[in-house]
Amino acid sequence: MRISVFGLGYVGAVSCGCLGALGHRVIGVDVVKDKVDRIGRGESPIIEVGIDEILQKAVKDKLLTSTTDVAGAVRDSDAALVCVGTPSNPAGGVDSTYLERVCRQIGEAVKAQNRDFYCVLSRSTSLPPVHQKLMQILEESTGSKLGDRIGYVCHPEFLREGIAVHDFYHPPKIVFGPTDPKSAALCRQLYPGIEAESFYVSPEVAAMVKYADNCFHALKVTFGNEVGLICKSLGIDSHAVMDIFCKDRKLNISDKYLRPGNPFGGSCLPKDLRGILDASRVTATPLPMHAGMLESNRVQIDRLVKRIVATSGRAPLGLVGLAFKEGTDDVRESPMVYLVEQLLGKGVPVRIYDEHLAVQRLVGSNKSFALESIPHLAELLSNDLAAIVKGSKSLVINHRLDAKRWAAAGLTGDHRVIDLVNIPELRSLAGYDGLYW
Ligand SMILES: NC(=O)c1ccc[n+]([C@@H]2O[C@H](COP(=O)([O-])OP(=O)(O)OC[C@H]3O[C@@H](n4cnc5c(N)ncnc54)[C@H](O)[C@@H]3O)[C@@H](O)[C@H]2O)c1
Repeated sequence: MRISVFGLGYVGAVSCGCLGALGHRVIGVDVVKDKVDRIGRGESPIIEVGIDEILQKAVKDKLLTSTTDVAGAVRDSDAALVCVGTPSNPAGGVDSTYLERVCRQIGEAVKAQNRDFYCVLSRSTSLPPVHQKLMQILEESTGSKLGDRIGYVCHPEFLREGIAVHDFYHPPKIVFGPTDPKSAALCRQLYPGIEAESFYVSPEVAAMVKYADNCFHALKVTFGNEVGLICKSLGIDSHAVMDIFCKDRKLNISDKYLRPGNPFGGSCLPKDLRGILDASRVTATPLPMHAGMLESNRVQIDRLVKRIVATSGRAPLGLVGLAFKEGTDDVRESPMVYLVEQLLGKGVPVRIYDEHLAVQRLVGSNKSFALESIPHLAELLSNDLAAIVKGSKSLVINHRLDAKRWAAAGLTGDHRVIDLVNIPELRSLAGYDGLYW
């Protein structure tokens, strides 16, 4: 394939060398003449292990040239890989000036050259609204609809500086967000021989994958360091702790606890988080990320209450699952107890179905927490799911039930269903409303 790489910085320079090594004909484009000249001579404008060798080889094999001429690069290629910078603007948002400029220049060249089809793939990190703007710019500047003469792909980059060449050949995953079938077909030819799981999703999902990744990496560093801070204050070697933490691939370094859904609760997480925050106060060791978790959890419950009241008013509401998760009757610090408390306080009539819960069986702290929060809990609970469904306009679903039971309970498209746990078989209901999806 013939590919123009726009932007010869860290991502672009690596892409030029590695795409050339895969056998593509590559044209490097930049506004900085010195970078263009270096790439043209097979010299790297950046420091990166292994980059010099692959650039030199690509130039020697006549697979890599460079230019400052956008129109010429578009004319001599089938696709553009856009790798220009997306720095922060003064307000912290994404400065998409360079991206917009490049896309407009490419679009104008495509129009002037009356191309049958040209595809723009953006490797630059930017948020979904920026990608939508770029698609609009490409349509305007080419005078063509996406999928006709012009295609667009949000194609985030996951390489790490310092080992970027290695990461290019061994990516953790490959994500394409194409707008049209012609662009998707082109994506399939981009990385011959590179083995990695590939995902074809919408441009918006592709863009958010990159942000979820980088925010998670930042969260991991901050988490490790806050554990380090409190350990140091308590005279403990944090590496001794985190070495064991990282060995746990079942619950810690795994996909557990990462799916969007109901806020956390139960008898352990809130209590133990408060314990660490108390240690942070006692030792004068601020842990802002840990403190933010409790606040974030509370905000999520408050938002859910507001959303229910805003959309369903004071119509009767059924709750399926009061315990903090399914398969237990533990209601201690269950977010659903707070939800019910708040809804009752706002005058919303609530009925509760929880197959494992019976007030007469509750004991100890579980009983006292439940009855202190909702004194007349016994009157709200019913083991007749069908009756609760029949008597409710809205249903908040916090526990999964067997698929057949929803139909048997009489759930219809007229019910507003607020799903907190992502139940696929309910998604087709007309009144379905996923918590964060
Ligand atoms: N650096 C990384 O490790 C990394 C990893 C993944 C994703 N990203 C993302 O990739 C993008 C590029 O990052 P980078 O670190 O390579 O940036 P960089 O600043 O090193 O390089 C950007 C290049 O774009 C050039 N440029 C600007 N306007 C141009 C134009 N109109 N035409 C042609 N070239 C133009 C600049 O001269 C510069 O050489 C960013 O969005 C970044 O967030 C970076």
